[in-house]
Amino acid sequence: MIFSRITGTGGYLPDRVLTNKDLETMIDTTEQWIESRTGIRERRIAADDEFTVDLAERSALKAVEAAAIEPRAIDLIVVATTTADQVFPSTACLLQQRLGGEGYPAFDVQAVCAGFLFALGVADKFVRTGAARCALVVGAETFSRIIDWTDRRTCVLFGDGAGAVILQAGDRPGVMSTHLHSDGRYKDLLYVPVGVSRNFSKVRAGTAYTTMEGGEVFRWAVTAMSDIIDETVQANGLGKDDIDWLIPHQANIRIINAVGARAKIDPDKVVVTVSRHGNTSAASVPLALDQAVRDGRVQAGHRVLLEGFGGGFAWGSALITM
Ligand code: UT7
Repeated sequence: MIFSRITGTGGYLPDRVLTNKDLETMIDTTEQWIESRTGIRERRIAADDEFTVDLAERSALKAVEAAAIEPRAIDLIVVATTTADQVFPSTACLLQQRLGGEGYPAFDVQAVCAGFLFALGVADKFVRTGAARCALVVGAETFSRIIDWTDRRTCVLFGDGAGAVILQAGDRPGVMSTHLHSDGRYKDLLYVPVGVSRNFSKVRAGTAYTTMEGGEVFRWAVTAMSDIIDETVQANGLGKDDIDWLIPHQANIRIINAVGARAKIDPDKVVVTVSRHGNTSAASVPLALDQAVRDGRVQAGHRVLLEGFGGGFAWGSALITM
C-alpha cells in the first residue's frame, strides 16, 4: 500500500507587525480587550508589493529545504487560499512557475480557514492512488486585503501568512486519515459578499470585506472542532490519549481552549500560536505545525491531529504520524 508522509514543513510571516497598541490608534478598542477576548497580541501585514504567491513561495522553499528535496522533485501543488493573487491563473500555477516546474498538476482549493485541511485531504488522495509521489501543499493568505480596517469587530482578528508541507509517498502512514465537511446553510454567518460574478464593482473599489456574526461562528467553531476530534480518533480505532499534539485552527484562544475542554484534551498537548499572528485563515494550521516542528515539540513518530473551521461553513481534520 502507498501512504503519504509529511517530510518537511515551512512557514512565513511578512515583516510588518501590527500590534494591538497600533490598533488602538485606528479604531475604538483597547489592547486589553483584544488580548483578553482573542488571545491575539499582534498580526503581520503583507507589504503593498507583496502578494499571496510571495508568501506561498517563501514557506514552500522552507518546506523543500526541510524535506531535503529539490523543487524539481515536486509533482503536485495544491494551494489553499481565499485571497488568490489573480482571478486566474491559480496561485498554485504562479507558484509552480516560481519553483521552476512544469507539466504536473497545480491548482487552488478554496475552503477559507479549513482550506489547508481540504488541500491536504486532496493531495493525500493523489499520493495514495499513485497519481503523485511528492506533493507541495500550501496554505497562504493576504487576508488583510479583505478586511475593513474601520470595523473593530473583524479587523483585530486577522493577519497574513503562509505555511507549507511536503507530502511524499511511503510504505507506512503518514497521513492516517482526513475528514472533510461543509454545510452551506451557514453561508450568511461568515462571508465576503462580493466576487467576480457578483458586485464586482466593490472588488474594483477595494471594498470587498469580511463580514461575520462573531458569536454564532464562535459557537459553531467550538462544536464542530471538538466533534471532529472524536470522529478522527474513532476512525483510527484510537483514544484521545493516543494523540501527542492537537493543532487547531488559530482564530481565537477562547475557541481553542473551549475545544480542548469540550474534547477533554490536555491543554499541554495543544499547540497555540494565535498570539503572534492572529487568524491567518488557510495558513494558520500549517504555520502552527511548522512552529511546533521547529521548536522541537512535534517530533518523528508523534501522532498529530490537525483541524480547521471557517466560512461555508467548511471544517476538516487530519491525523498524522510524523
Ligand atoms: O476562523 C473562523 C473565523 N472566525 C472566528 O473564529 C471568530 C469567532 N468569533 C470570535 O472570535 C468572537 O466572537 C469575537 C472575538 C469576534 C468577539 O468576541 P465576543 O466575546 O463574542 O464579543 P461580542 O461580539 O459579544 O462583543 C462584546 C462587546 C460588544 O459591545 P456591546 O454590544 O456589549 O456594547 C462589541 O461591540 O465588545 C464590543 N467589541 C469590541 N470592543 C473593543 C467588539 N469588538 C471590539 C473591539 N474592541 N475590537
